[in-house]
Amino acid sequence: MPKTTKKNQEVESVKLSSIMEKIVSLAKRRGFIFQSSEIYGGINSIYDFGPLGVELKNNIKRQWWQSMVQLRDNVVGLDSGILMHPKIWEASGHLAGFTDPLVDCKSCKKRFRADHLLEAKGLKPKFQPLEFSREGIRCPECDGELTDIRDFNLMFKTFMGPLEDSAAQIYLRPETAQGIYVNFLNVLSSVRQKLPFGIAQIGKAFRNEITPGNFIFRMREFEQMEMQFFVNPKEADKWFGYWQAERLKWYLSLGVKKSALHTREHEPAELAHYAKKALDLEYEFPFGQKELEGIHNRGDWDLSRHQKFSGQDLSYFDAAAKEKFIPYIIETSGGVDRAALMFLANAYTEVEPRSGDDDSKHEKEVVLKLDARLAPIKIAILPLSKKLEKDAYKVYEDLRVAWQCQYDDTGSIGKRYRRQDEIGTPYCLTFDFDSLNDKKVTVRDRDTMKQERIAIAELKDYLCTNLKL
Ligand code: GAP
Repeated sequence: MPKTTKKNQEVESVKLSSIMEKIVSLAKRRGFIFQSSEIYGGINSIYDFGPLGVELKNNIKRQWWQSMVQLRDNVVGLDSGILMHPKIWEASGHLAGFTDPLVDCKSCKKRFRADHLLEAKGLKPKFQPLEFSREGIRCPECDGELTDIRDFNLMFKTFMGPLEDSAAQIYLRPETAQGIYVNFLNVLSSVRQKLPFGIAQIGKAFRNEITPGNFIFRMREFEQMEMQFFVNPKEADKWFGYWQAERLKWYLSLGVKKSALHTREHEPAELAHYAKKALDLEYEFPFGQKELEGIHNRGDWDLSRHQKFSGQDLSYFDAAAKEKFIPYIIETSGGVDRAALMFLANAYTEVEPRSGDDDSKHEKEVVLKLDARLAPIKIAILPLSKKLEKDAYKVYEDLRVAWQCQYDDTGSIGKRYRRQDEIGTPYCLTFDFDSLNDKKVTVRDRDTMKQERIAIAELKDYLCTNLKL
């Protein structure tokens, strides 16, 4: 192992940031991710997902839903409102406690999270304001003096109805979880579930982050995939371990490199206001090892608070054990956008030129080695000549009923292969003049580059087997 010196650490971080730049550029050039409102100069930390990005996100959500709801007897789905009764946020503790410690630079006026500044110095993220000033931390941008810490609530406010007064003030949800808790009784009585059981939801959440950044890693509008599992308090530890293992398995099953995934348990001082225990699944992003998803034991915090604030009995009677209790909640909470960035970074690979595209001179070619289930386009149909359009297009029409396909008849075949490799398309089918007679096409595998001649009549079976579900 070479010794890690400051110099090669710097080289390493330049390499990683240049990978990030390449991912951002690819994402824009090929229609995965655009800066929101770009023609107006953009809006900070909001992003739009383009034609390929929306496919990638839909595929991630589909895989999550399949694994968390469809394949389980004891988890059901929900889609609750983004706007909810404002008392929910009082009960949940978000009005009082969902804050970040904010400091401003008195010189350059830049704004920072005090805990991030401490972390950067290798100090503990939780602290008393007094301790912060004692550390003598200064502005990382201009070395200016920083203000005292202020607590800054991350919830976006808006007004319901025509009057913009405090009585009409409501919030955009900062997590999807609360929509699940306030529907606990509805779901329990309508689907005849018994504990332990879970409710899963995918949806938008909004946070007025002080320091958003790293592309789509931390945004102000994002999507969450959350599952709340209601259990007997005595079984909370067991289920925490179970869900931790399940979530890790899910990421690995979709091709995430094991060596890049880590778990980190929160120290008591770091725990969110609702959490008894919390563990982050972290990924080695090009800009550092960061949280991908959280697994939390929220205890009876949420249901007992909603019971208190709503006056409704949210306890559960376990007929078999003849006991009544407020269920504990084990939560798995991941971000769809953050997962999309992680899957892109995980898949991004540069290889020696291999597509046979010699129209342009390039030292390296990009192959996005996404799991086939996540790839935005599953199959590209490439006729070798425009004269073959009628028959090749028929193959395309036949396959697109089942899979997201792309028909591409422009440029050399090498160029077309390269375009598909760069967006992660697992299979390219070339339709040539022989295809008219032997009724076969050549199927090229993105990763192995193996080419096979397959009968058109057998294509669906072949692709069903190889593309998985
Ligand atoms: N209900 C619990 C909860 O919301 P969290 O750790 O604050 O917990 C869960 O958020 C996940 O949501 C994170 O692991 C991350 O994937 C995603 N997430 C949170 N804030 C985000 C942001 N500003 N931008 C993008 N994703 C975010």
